[in-house]
Amino acid sequence: MAVDPEKTSPRSRPELFAFHGVHMTHFFTDNWEKVQNFQARPDDVLIATYPKSGTTWVSNILDLLYFGQSERQTSIPLYTRVPFLEVIWPPMIGTEDIEQLPTSPRLIKTHLPIQFVPKSFWEQNSRIVYIARNAKDNVVSYFHFCRLAKSHPEAGDWSSFLQRFMEGKMVFGSWYDHVTGWWEKRQTYSNLHYMFYEDLITDTGREIDQLCSFLGMSCSAEEKERVRALTQFDQMKNDKMANFSTIHTMDFTISPFMRKGKVGDWKNHFTVAQNEQFDEDYRKKMKNPKLQFWTEV
Ligand code: A3P
Repeated sequence: MAVDPEKTSPRSRPELFAFHGVHMTHFFTDNWEKVQNFQARPDDVLIATYPKSGTTWVSNILDLLYFGQSERQTSIPLYTRVPFLEVIWPPMIGTEDIEQLPTSPRLIKTHLPIQFVPKSFWEQNSRIVYIARNAKDNVVSYFHFCRLAKSHPEAGDWSSFLQRFMEGKMVFGSWYDHVTGWWEKRQTYSNLHYMFYEDLITDTGREIDQLCSFLGMSCSAEEKERVRALTQFDQMKNDKMANFSTIHTMDFTISPFMRKGKVGDWKNHFTVAQNEQFDEDYRKKMKNPKLQFWTEV
């Protein structure tokens, strides 16, 4: 596929456009045919999230659980160990990066809403781990990320960003549809483990236990504890292979990628009026009583 260097230049921010009913940028749609025809394997593990829900954290946990602490962790960036399926920002091309993975299983990251997931994942019955995060912290984290990441449209000011989030005018679309779509998929697809960022924060050890059982792994208590300790926020914040500091399209003078790693930071951003408006809108959009989030712990 021909790539327009102007479009990929970090000088220009991409435009947001509606794509099959979901807002996207060309960095995630230019390779669409190859993404849709991607051949999953039965032992692939797909890590799926709405952006800013703990993707990097869980990717690191799974990478350590499967492959242990080795030279890979200290020499290969996490985004190369766990390629991003739909991204096309040369030299990063998700589908090609996955093909080149030497590991088995292959760990693959995606932010696609459920209806866009390549059908081979369902056909191969691959394992999928979905991580969801409460909407208020998610939008705050996304706001800061859009300020620093040139792969996304400009964040603008906080109040307009919040408004656009409520309208689903974000890259990868509506948070509400994303978390609900994946939640409902559990009813028909059993190889999907749905977890919450807030649970990971409150009891990382328990969540790692549950991940091990879902993945059919028999990890010793010592191994699990080692993984838990190695993936603590401060550890990852200082880990150059996990903190995205090797990516030049992110401007860390604006905000670090590993920003706060907390539940409840939304309280430092939402005004009382914004919170009331958000809650009212949330009640209208989130109709499934079984899908509940903690906004504080
Ligand atoms: P904040 O911006 O709220 O700090 P993703 O990896 O999906 O892009 O999500 C990024 C968010 O997860 C950021 O949230 C980041 O700080 C947080 N995060 C990453 N690693 C973490 C860890 N080990 N513990 C807690 N939070 C983590």
